[in-house]
Amino acid sequence: MGTIIAPSVLSADFADLGGAVEQIDASGADWVHLDVMDGQFVPNLTFGPKLVRDLRRHSRAFFDAHLMVETPERIVGAFADAGADSITFHLEATVHPHRLLQEIRKLGKKAGISIVPSTPAGMLNELLPFLDLILIMTVNPGFGGQHIIPECLDKLRFLAAERQKHGLDFLLSVDGGINSETAASAVAAGAEILVIGSAFFAAKDKSAFVHQLRA
Ligand code: DX5
Ligand code: ZN
Repeated sequence: MGTIIAPSVLSADFADLGGAVEQIDASGADWVHLDVMDGQFVPNLTFGPKLVRDLRRHSRAFFDAHLMVETPERIVGAFADAGADSITFHLEATVHPHRLLQEIRKLGKKAGISIVPSTPAGMLNELLPFLDLILIMTVNPGFGGQHIIPECLDKLRFLAAERQKHGLDFLLSVDGGINSETAASAVAAGAEILVIGSAFFAAKDKSAFVHQLRA
């Protein structure tokens, strides 16, 4: 399996998000990454499940929802109904991640968890068997266009080793400051999914950009 490219609509024109997911599909990228922010867990607001439902009419791609919200257990059901294919929430945002991962799987969705730069990867140890995806944040979440914190990539190495040791099969994703300069170091550290916001929407030739990232 090649590297999965997951452009984030966070950096698109919010007045034309339908057009943005169509651009993502046309570029040959694999997944659409949907950054949901509640103005509490992160200091920014984006959108809720209705937008996901409306975007579903513009794209058949895999919808990778990244919930940067407090108490995500209140809202995962709505995102599942709206057509998200994977639902990733933050370890730091709930007291009961173990229960929530299982609830997401029961909804028939891929269950993912994310950690911010200050959270050690070892905090995920007890959860590893219940995970389909781990999203390592390489910036402090809230905004696109920030610089990568390269030290965070060590978490990918650690988690890839744990996965092998325990015979597990979750996917490793990286989010924040990924562009044509930083992608190679993320993949070398073990990233299988590259979330890309600003660099994707800044690229004039999006197909060439995706092609270059895969190479
Ligand atoms: C950050 C979001 C990211 C963001 C990445 O809070 O979770 O998905 O869109 O944007 P870039 O690629 O610009 O760092
Ligand atoms: Zn994200």
